[in-house]
Amino acid sequence: MQEFTHSIRPIIDPAKKKVYIETYGCQMNVNDSEVILSILQKVGYCLTENIDEADLILANTCSIRDNAEQRIWGRIEQFRLQKKRRSGVIIGIVGCMAERLKDKLLDGHQVDLVAGPDSYRSLPGLLEAITPQKPQIDVLLSHEETYADISPVRMDKNGISAFISIMRGCNNVCSYCVVPYTRGAERSRDPHTIVAEARELYEHGYKEVTLLGQNVDSYYWKDPDLAGNDVNFALLLEMVAQISPSLRVRFSTSHPKDISDEVIYTMARYENICKHIHLPVQSGSDVMLEKMRRKYTREWYLERVKKIRSVIPDCGLTTDVIAGFCGETIQDHHDTLSLMEEVVFDSAFMFAYSERPGTLASRKYADDIPYEEKTSRLNEIIALQGRMSLKSNERDLGKVFEVLVEGPSKKNPEELCGRASSNKMCVFPSRGEKPGDYTKVRVNSVTSATLICENLGK
Ligand code: SAH
Ligand code: SF4
Ligand code: F3S
Repeated sequence: MQEFTHSIRPIIDPAKKKVYIETYGCQMNVNDSEVILSILQKVGYCLTENIDEADLILANTCSIRDNAEQRIWGRIEQFRLQKKRRSGVIIGIVGCMAERLKDKLLDGHQVDLVAGPDSYRSLPGLLEAITPQKPQIDVLLSHEETYADISPVRMDKNGISAFISIMRGCNNVCSYCVVPYTRGAERSRDPHTIVAEARELYEHGYKEVTLLGQNVDSYYWKDPDLAGNDVNFALLLEMVAQISPSLRVRFSTSHPKDISDEVIYTMARYENICKHIHLPVQSGSDVMLEKMRRKYTREWYLERVKKIRSVIPDCGLTTDVIAGFCGETIQDHHDTLSLMEEVVFDSAFMFAYSERPGTLASRKYADDIPYEEKTSRLNEIIALQGRMSLKSNERDLGKVFEVLVEGPSKKNPEELCGRASSNKMCVFPSRGEKPGDYTKVRVNSVTSATLICENLGK
């Protein structure tokens, strides 16, 4: 079994070289930055939050939509100003954009270092080899790398909630999506290292872990030494939930084609497995779902929702929606709206389709919905979701939830905030609780974003 004997929070040592890390994209990137910091701390770097004193500036990047990449090009310009002012500063681009653009990022000596998501172990060697004339690049993807033995150094602010990557890559090849190209093939991580990492977090005062994968339902570990003791996602969830009833377990992302009854029943059995499923639907139209290669139909999706709600009546449900995919008709768009009205999601991430070079959709289908039309469909989707979020929250009026206190509410620092098991944000008066405490609250009023509650105490 893996031993984790190190400092879990960043080490601050003024004598050491300093790394500044900006993280873009999904939760997996947030966790990857913590893996990177762990690797760099071992070779003498410490973290700084002040870019002006950094010896090494890293951007951990995202390629999911064009605007994500445009933002990073803007940042690279800013980083180059640092280099002009202070010679010797190293600029590195890591993550998905590094993997997608490879040596194009080195054209014109924009940056000194390019490292893809599977190359972080080679960062110390790459850094050593950099000279002003010799930028370094490693964008090899791997079929094995899971960083299973590396304990991420946590960069979150309050030491309560942490991400744990349980797998990497994706094998699904949804036609619009760049992730399989930037993150490579799917591979699952040894469950013993996952449980050890979660236990260590719990022992350091963490109260919530979120298990991360692009498609957690296809997590699968074949144990070569224990034939017949294979671990699927339901079993992994159970193993982590058994660490302690006061450690909350969350997970993301579930794929509608793969989420199993076994996972749903496991969630129902353990109070500390949070009752929230992020289940990206993308579209309510079968024609679009087929072209997107999502491998499920509207009917299948609605059946999964029905199953979830029959087993876990109060389960939080959130989703992702893409507006204006290739060839989307007004009817297809209305199918998405009607599905959203039927399900009443608690919240949703909603995007206009952005063509990504190299994806199946970019090769096979024209990106033919004009920008204005895409934006207007997206706005309709956003407005509808606002009404649905309010409706979903109104259904909680009068209900009592246990919340994990995160800290002062952002709008009113006199009050506290924390999430219910469903992942809904609650705001309530303090009874002296500290971040990391549990308390019970009753919902008295709601907005589309928040449950406004009274604090009943333990
Ligand atoms: N693995 C997860 C999602 C990963 S990407 C899943 O399968 O659901 C997060 C979200 O970004 C996706 O759910 C999708 O809604 C959106 N997305 C991905 N590619 C996109 C693109 N090319 N244009 C617009 N949105 C996109
Ligand atoms: Fe992309 Fe589909 Fe994989 Fe999600 S499941 S990361 S949308 S290819
Ligand atoms: Fe972006 Fe890569 Fe995540 S493309 S969404 S950072 S997997």
